[in-house]
Amino acid sequence: MSFWIVPPGVLVDSPRAPGHSTGQPHSGKYVRIADGREFVDIDPRELRNCLGHFTTGVTVVTCDVDGSPHGATVNAFSAVSLDPPLVLVSLDRRSKAARYLDGRPFTVNVLRSQQDALALHFAGRPMPDAVPWAEPAHGSPRLADCLAHLSCRPWASYDGGDHVLHLGHVEELTYGGGAPLVFFRGQFRHLGPAFEAAPWLESGDCPGSLSRLIGGLTEAAH
Ligand SMILES: Cc1cc2nc3c(=O)[nH]c(=O)nc-3n(C[C@H](O)[C@H](O)[C@H](O)COP(=O)(O)O)c2cc1C
Repeated sequence: MSFWIVPPGVLVDSPRAPGHSTGQPHSGKYVRIADGREFVDIDPRELRNCLGHFTTGVTVVTCDVDGSPHGATVNAFSAVSLDPPLVLVSLDRRSKAARYLDGRPFTVNVLRSQQDALALHFAGRPMPDAVPWAEPAHGSPRLADCLAHLSCRPWASYDGGDHVLHLGHVEELTYGGGAPLVFFRGQFRHLGPAFEAAPWLESGDCPGSLSRLIGGLTEAAH
């Protein structure tokens, strides 16, 4: 596919105008002048399409709101820190969850491959079956039979533009075997088979790596 990029310095009235009006393929990149400064505008639809190429799992973030459980399907979930143990979810400011998570404990429920109906349910398309709520483990409600759970207390919230970044301090976790629900280019998928060799085994980011273990022991000795 070829791309059409508005050259820097070209003024564009509407971010959608050039590519869409001429029918030319485009990169989703436009230049805007505001307050005497030049900004690059990215067409939100193109940004969404591009981000869709980053494969993720699917989670449902749950919390307790005045005695009632609330959940929202979220794929913008990320590990942040091991020490302290922190994770992050990015929530649309317009969602109820973005407001509810402000100062509330929450659980990140990592979905299994068979839990696509649950993902849709918590994205606004109710499923016919009852939601399988589990006994709350740590203040916030949990979904039963998920691939993993991370129960968190609120750590910090940050401005993320039209989203709010909620960081949680992990206080309890569970995980087990099974296959995850995968999200790629707007569709749910199954995970493919693993590579024969694990090429990253000795990388510093591998939880079981020898170098990480030795590094930890050296630090502890000082
Ligand atoms: C696969 C999938 C992933 C989603 N990921 C996010 C996300 O990361 N952040 C977000 O704010 N909304 C995300 N959504 C949309 C929310 O699930 C949806 O807006 C939900 O209705 C919010 O619920 P609430 O307003 O009741 O809290 C996703 C939806 C789907 C289907």
